[in-house]
Amino acid sequence: MNITMIGTGYVGLVTGTCFAEFGHLVTCVDKIADKITRLQEGIIPIYEPGLDVLVQKNTDEGRLRFTTDLAAAVPEAEAVFIAVGTPSSRRGDGYADLTYIYEAAREIAVHLQGYTVVVDKSTVPVGTARQVERIIRETNPQADFDVASNPEFLREGAAISDFMRPDRVVIGVESEKAGQVLQEIYKPLYLRETPIVSTTIETAELTKYAANAFLAVKISFINEIAGVCEAVNANVVDLARAIGMDGRIGSKFLHPGPGYGGSCFPKDTLALMRLVQEHGENVRVVEAAVEANAAQKARMIRKIREMLGGSEAGKTIGVLGLTFKPETDDMRDAPAATILPALLEKGAKLRAHDPKGMEEAKKCLPGGIEYVKNAYEAAEDADCLVLMTEWNQYRALDLERLKSRMRSPVFIDLRNVYDPQRMQAAGFVYTGVGRK
Ligand code: UDX
Repeated sequence: MNITMIGTGYVGLVTGTCFAEFGHLVTCVDKIADKITRLQEGIIPIYEPGLDVLVQKNTDEGRLRFTTDLAAAVPEAEAVFIAVGTPSSRRGDGYADLTYIYEAAREIAVHLQGYTVVVDKSTVPVGTARQVERIIRETNPQADFDVASNPEFLREGAAISDFMRPDRVVIGVESEKAGQVLQEIYKPLYLRETPIVSTTIETAELTKYAANAFLAVKISFINEIAGVCEAVNANVVDLARAIGMDGRIGSKFLHPGPGYGGSCFPKDTLALMRLVQEHGENVRVVEAAVEANAAQKARMIRKIREMLGGSEAGKTIGVLGLTFKPETDDMRDAPAATILPALLEKGAKLRAHDPKGMEEAKKCLPGGIEYVKNAYEAAEDADCLVLMTEWNQYRALDLERLKSRMRSPVFIDLRNVYDPQRMQAAGFVYTGVGRK
């Protein structure tokens, strides 16, 4: 199949490259010429493990190309995917900003030739595909097309494996013809018996929000239970294991931490709440999860303050990890982006390290943070060390070496990476999340 992908961000670039890996001919379009030039040179603008190799391979084999020329890329495509950003609107009211989606729809409309399926891949509020359809019909009444919704469930840092071995593919279509085109596109996954859920457009659009909102609820749930565990001196890691063995609960996404971040959960939960309000409905459970997430970050700030004897002022805090999760350079809504500024404000001195995220962090964190080369430099003269993001690099640190550099051996493990007994035996004053 000939596929055109509009947008070469986390979703568009991974999806386009993986479609090419399936054997399709893919043209990725972006407005930002510099980004396209770098992609043509094999320079990937984001950190996603394995993506650079896959882009190079498919470009070399002639199935993947990059262009700014949307006019040339649309006519030949049997399916045009819209994978542009839908950031939270600048009004800060939680609505998804659909400007780029509608702009793409208008531009696509003009160049449609032959029957084409226009597919929303971006996470969009229910009803957006209908708007896209209206815009295209108004812009080009002669166009022979259908719209479809095909939400993605890719985790950053695992996006390629999530794409190649998805739990399911969700397709929202209104016509048999559009359904056939999308089934054809995902045909290579049949080999792995991947279930394809074909449903209405609105159902597919809402599915994406419901999936992300549920995962956010699950994380906020275990974060709050972790607080209860601290109060009654229980161990949340054992508790999570025990409840997760119930097939109805499942063991994934029961790791307490400093709160969820990223470009999806925070944005999609808010967008769902706004969408629901517009229809006079409620998602109180999701609202509570959003509130609990903000409270979790505040709780981490208090935890650090308590471990420093009641005040951060004048204290040196070593921070291990800045990104919202490991295996990404993404700082969007990372817990560190809330926690570190609060510590600075109270007069703390921060020495931070992250394997991949320091460049991004410098753009979004306030000045005054010293960025260092590794965990041991972050420990230099530190009154405490905070493990913020569970990068593998931090999982087997030389505790003796760490301790010898610190002013006081206080270890605050916000991802429960280390064993409390082991840390105490190594001479650390240790605390985790949900276990002492
Ligand atoms: C998420 C969804 O998982 C994915 O399906 C969707 O397409 C996009 O959003 P992503 O945001 O990339 O993916 O990362 P994910 O691995 O889901 O983690 C999201 C946040 O939750 C991270 O901040 C992570 O640290 C946090 N998290 C995750 C926890 O705090 N505890 C957990 O047990 C799992």
